[in-house]
Amino acid sequence: MREFIIVGHKARTDGNFNLNDLPGSGGRMDILCRCVNSALFLSHDLRRDVVIYLVLLGEPDIPGIVKFEGENVRYLNPDERSSGSLIKKALEKSAIPRWRESTPGVWIRLGGLADLLDEVLTDKKRLFYLQEDGGDIRDEFEENVPDDTVFVLGDHTGMTPEEETVILDSDAKTINVGPVSLHADHCIILVNNEIDRTVGTTG
Ligand SMILES: C[S@@+](CC[C@H](N)C(=O)[O-])C[C@H]1O[C@@H](n2cnc3c(N)ncnc32)[C@H](O)[C@@H]1O
Repeated sequence: MREFIIVGHKARTDGNFNLNDLPGSGGRMDILCRCVNSALFLSHDLRRDVVIYLVLLGEPDIPGIVKFEGENVRYLNPDERSSGSLIKKALEKSAIPRWRESTPGVWIRLGGLADLLDEVLTDKKRLFYLQEDGGDIRDEFEENVPDDTVFVLGDHTGMTPEEETVILDSDAKTINVGPVSLHADHCIILVNNEIDRTVGTTG
């Protein structure tokens, strides 16, 4: 299983945003929508072994998390409005501290990054923090990719020092996907590709 966590510092935590204005009214929800696309889509199929979590930290409510499961998701097309609309539907459901499914394969719960890492990280999973000055992913995955990997990334504002502390305290290994700073969705494509090259995909 491959899991991605992206933190949207300005992303709205209710469904009160316009699908025609994901960057403005959605608090850069467009970034998160592109990350869903990059994590889950193959050319004519979905990556069934991938889950992506969107940590929403913007206005107006307390933090929430939306989860997309590649294996179970339905009604998702590879455009930003499509993922935006499934996120909006999830946010229109009243969130509680445990997961509730809003549409097939899309889930919502209350919580922030620390809550999510607590829940997701089990003994056999390896956590990787994507950062420009980390170690080279190719050195890390040259010979072996762990069966269960979790990758955490920032949005256009990166990660706050407090979030970095939470991540590093969770025993994360810091890795980079190349020598220059890229958009988060592009990093996800590169991570998927690096792992595909080593172990293939079950998509
Ligand atoms: C657009 S970048 C953030 C840029 C932001 N201005 C900053 O200073 O952090 C979004 C996220 O993609 C990831 N990222 C970008 N380039 C990367 C690289 N070359 N290797 C690994 N991760 C990268 C990081 O997680 C980063 O927080």
